[in-house]
Amino acid sequence: MLVLGIESSCDETGIALYDSATGLLSHALHSQVAMHAEYGGVVPELASRDHIRRVVPLLRDALAQGKRSLEEVDAVAYTRGPGLAGALLVGCAFAEALALAIDKPTIPVHHLEGHLLSPLLSATPPTFPFVALLVSGGHTQLMRVTGVGEYELLGETLDDAAGEAFDKSAKLLGLPYPGGALLSKLAEAGAPGVYELPRPMLHSGDLSFSFSGLKTAVLTLVREHADDMTDTFKADAARAFQEAIVEVLVKKSLKAMKQTGLKQLVVAGGVGANRQLRATLDDEARRKRFSVFYPELEFCTDNGAMIALAGCLRLQAGTPAKAAGSFAIQPRWPLSELLR
Ligand code: KG4
Ligand code: ZN
Repeated sequence: MLVLGIESSCDETGIALYDSATGLLSHALHSQVAMHAEYGGVVPELASRDHIRRVVPLLRDALAQGKRSLEEVDAVAYTRGPGLAGALLVGCAFAEALALAIDKPTIPVHHLEGHLLSPLLSATPPTFPFVALLVSGGHTQLMRVTGVGEYELLGETLDDAAGEAFDKSAKLLGLPYPGGALLSKLAEAGAPGVYELPRPMLHSGDLSFSFSGLKTAVLTLVREHADDMTDTFKADAARAFQEAIVEVLVKKSLKAMKQTGLKQLVVAGGVGANRQLRATLDDEARRKRFSVFYPELEFCTDNGAMIALAGCLRLQAGTPAKAAGSFAIQPRWPLSELLR
């Protein structure tokens, strides 16, 4: 079965071809980061317009790289939600029209399910069941993943997502959008232990997270140093922030491993690219004798490959495909609706 996947929920347009027998054949991606950087964040209207410009050339790239024709596609998967309504509409309208034209069905996919399953694209994938730490710009969740469509929420953030906390703290330190990756680079130049920031909910006894207080603590620190925002201060502050957030993410993940008794942890979403988070989790996994899996860096952030994969696995698991031609976006779509 050959599935075409289309992602357009935020500021990346991604199109990919996934073959159930041979795996990922191709994926093409365009990131709008440079376009939004000028405005300090994603401008929804500009995002939608850019998706419109990119979908057709990216589809041509994906087909050419995969050496397949449109007629060979068996189903078109696309991100139904959650995400920006206008941006989702572009991918949905394109996917539905395309499927109608080639007389094939569609399979609308939950964006987070794409992230959750993305580690299965790796050369050495995890096997079910596993614990997933999903840390993206919009979500921070720990889940038990027993199979395709079998997800149990173990804990989530009560306010800001981890990526959001990275981006907001980066902004406070004067870094351009999207600051998460830049902040983590700056942190590597900082000295540990110069500033002590709170570890929110570290001892809450459950698997909930909260990061808005940490962001406020960064704001307070920045205000205290308003007159001497030196490069050293910024690097040390970035280091303090990263250490606090990494400690919370790691300790809660360890708690989830202990609670479930599972031996595999999967880290998905953009914050999964963070080097300190990876190094600390790898250390702990060695000590506690479990395995950690990360998607390839290019599949940590938004992409079409994870949507093609999720669509294909859903179809294989018996989720019915939908007749092409009807619109089905869901900008607000709690993952809980997919949960057991
Ligand atoms: O999964 P993703 O591409 O988008 C969402 O679905 O939200 O994640 C993007 C998030 C952003 O908040 C970005 O700042 C963060 O991932 N991010 C990082 C790093 N690279 C990307 N955060 C920390 N360290 C990084 N190296
Ligand atoms: Zn995402």
